[in-house]
Amino acid sequence: NWKMENLLDEEINIIKETVGPDDHVICALSGGVDSTVAATLVHKAIGDRLHCVFVDNGLLRYKERERVMETFERDLHLPVTCVDAVDQFLSKLKGVTDPEVKRKIIGKEFISIFDSFGHDLELKIGKKPSYLVQGTLYPDVIESCPPPGSGKTHSHTIKSHHNVGGLPKDMKLKLIEPLKLLFKDEVRQLGKILNVPNAFLKRHPFPGPGLAVRVLGDVTEGNALEVLRQVDEIFIQSIKDAGLYDSIWQAFAVFLPIKSVGVQGDQRTHSHVVALRAVTSQDGMTADWFNFEHQFLDNVSRKICNSVRGVNRVVQDITSKPPSTIEWE
Ligand code: XMP
Repeated sequence: NWKMENLLDEEINIIKETVGPDDHVICALSGGVDSTVAATLVHKAIGDRLHCVFVDNGLLRYKERERVMETFERDLHLPVTCVDAVDQFLSKLKGVTDPEVKRKIIGKEFISIFDSFGHDLELKIGKKPSYLVQGTLYPDVIESCPPPGSGKTHSHTIKSHHNVGGLPKDMKLKLIEPLKLLFKDEVRQLGKILNVPNAFLKRHPFPGPGLAVRVLGDVTEGNALEVLRQVDEIFIQSIKDAGLYDSIWQAFAVFLPIKSVGVQGDQRTHSHVVALRAVTSQDGMTADWFNFEHQFLDNVSRKICNSVRGVNRVVQDITSKPPSTIEWE
């Protein structure tokens, strides 16, 4: 694939030219395709002047922190520091229901964590890091920042993805965004050339604000996050077991802030409703809902209601994008 090989060489040269010989760079790894490929690329260009951090913000999926850290160490040999910031994020999100406010808060907390990670690093290596690597893709740029001259203002923005729109203006770190002109499938091709393991390349996209945009309303209410993690895990495992994971762009569960009446055993219940969403897409800009077989949905729905306490109803999202977006918030 000569086009991608050229692009890789070009990107590595740009990074070498941009980052001075004594400059240090921070990269936040999410465990997803974009940040992993971006980090591997920058690592190739500047070696151990790259310092990676993985933030547990309390908005991750089931056992995600353990799973991702293990894979980084075992498969990628990238030195990664894990920061436990669960209380920091969740305390700031308490009582917040507006999706855009959630994104802004989360973006701000991430930056404050990168700042203190940079500060700790300075104490260790005797120099302030100068750059922050982000795995921003072309569709993020289009959807977050209206192109100049398009006549659109920021209010036309669909969602302020925190890795593009939501960064504070006073941030001290300069940005390196080596994937900014690429679509997801191109990032996967680039990752393949960089020998990034399939476990990373084939992972479904996961939004930066994580489960905060999949628990509708206040994420700290009751045990919503825990319920969602369990439901999501059952759904994703079932998809993998059925051999469908690679045919789907994104699949996930959504926790709805409503209760409905059910009957479990001989008991009337008044419990939560969860929604399942799975879509196919080329680039995330448009998407079609994925049509599971009746039997698959029946098994998943039964499994969820039988094993997740506090859920008595499962619904499926059958809207495409547009008119819906992929995430519910
Ligand atoms: P939507 O919901 O806008 O999502 O159709 C398109 C793609 O973007 C992801 N997404 C986000 N990614 N920060 C991110 O890094 C965000 O705030 C965010 N919101 C949505 C979404 O998962 C889908 O892949």
